[in-house]
Amino acid sequence: MLPVGIDKISFYTSNYYLDLRTLACTQGTDPEKYYVGIGQEKMGMPAHDEDVVTMAASAASPLFDDEQSKTISTLLFATESGIDQSKSAGIYVHRLLGLNANCRVVELKQACYSATAAVQMACALVARQPETTVLVIASDVAKYELDTPGEATQGCGAVAMLIKANPRILEIDPQVGNHTEDVMDFWRPNYLKTAIVDGKYSTKIYLKSLKKAWENFTLASDVSFTDLSHFCYHLPFSRMAQKAHKHLSRVNKSSLEPEQIEAQIEGSLLYNKLIGNSYAAALFIGFTSLIENSNSDLGGKKIGFFSYGSGCVAEFFSGTVVPGYQQQLFKEQHQNMLECREEVDYEQYITLYNAPDPQNGESVIIDVDTTGKFRLAAIANHKREYVER
Ligand code: HMG
Repeated sequence: MLPVGIDKISFYTSNYYLDLRTLACTQGTDPEKYYVGIGQEKMGMPAHDEDVVTMAASAASPLFDDEQSKTISTLLFATESGIDQSKSAGIYVHRLLGLNANCRVVELKQACYSATAAVQMACALVARQPETTVLVIASDVAKYELDTPGEATQGCGAVAMLIKANPRILEIDPQVGNHTEDVMDFWRPNYLKTAIVDGKYSTKIYLKSLKKAWENFTLASDVSFTDLSHFCYHLPFSRMAQKAHKHLSRVNKSSLEPEQIEAQIEGSLLYNKLIGNSYAAALFIGFTSLIENSNSDLGGKKIGFFSYGSGCVAEFFSGTVVPGYQQQLFKEQHQNMLECREEVDYEQYITLYNAPDPQNGESVIIDVDTTGKFRLAAIANHKREYVER
């Protein structure tokens, strides 16, 4: 069987961020609670003319030219911040990116897990038709009620990946371990704009699911804990991954020193600390952070991935980094994007938080604000109008 996996990967986040020190000062909280306690520094806030569609299109646009786009047979769009109950957000992206009319599009949802489901389904499609490419995009805005414990873990981002045969970045192993359980740790009923979360319980369920998914993985795969040189975890906040990796190391009775255990994940945390939770996109932005910031050559190394989506579905899977992967990265563009962002003060943050949300078909023209390639120009007659900036 031909190897299948990630051939290219690119991400996007908004131009605006709130430093968590500003949030802490306004709340009268010790900033160290955020910088150390949850391990987060900044959180991305979308401009009013940005949403999951514009972020997704901006993430995917560097991945291919017109000629290469003809081989894309399917676009799988993973999100839990959908903009419509029926129409896939991916169809707007399909037009904005000029994809072929023969390319199918579908949206997937299972909290933060859906991007992993999309990647696995993409691998299966490519295994059946190795000449085709599947475009997987995960795009989300993590939004909680103001003045709740979840507020400091907001963020936004999109990641786009080309899934191909003989990939040039990551060969994904077919063996996986899953754990699914009907739990109410985090959810968002249709009538709410922000998630409801039982925060402490959600962190316990995350760790329980990690152990269960790992146990299931060991039944399916020959890959052992010591075969894995680095790990990428779903990243609601970076401290969650640190706790998770210590937990998995204990489960496997690892003989590594604490610093060595930390070194297996630290590269994957860097972008998340600056962006915040990007739900479905978070795991794969974490992988991008790892391969773009590692001091050593990861070519030939086995990576372990833990995907978690509240509700809950969890998956442990593995992959091998392809030698020469460095040639395929957008490291400079990503790091420039993060460095050039604009900090907002608390009042500006509240303005961004209250994005226009017409409910009755009234017209809203939205000022140009995003620095991304695509924007939401208006909402009128219950329709969203997307344009290239
Ligand atoms: P909280 O109640 O604000 O915080 O909620 P806390 O009091 O538990 O403090 C957090 C940590 O900071 C603690 O460390 C404190 O000791 C420490 P820990 O005990 O955990 O090791 N701390 C300090 N450290 C240094 N200096 C200080 C200081 N003060 C306190 N001065 C919580 C935290 C994560 C629960 C909250 O932010 C929350 O509800 N977040 C949203 C839910 C979430 O992210 N859950 C994660 C697992 S579920 C998941 O990942 C799925 C998700 O992405 C959704 C999806 O799947 O779609 C969320």
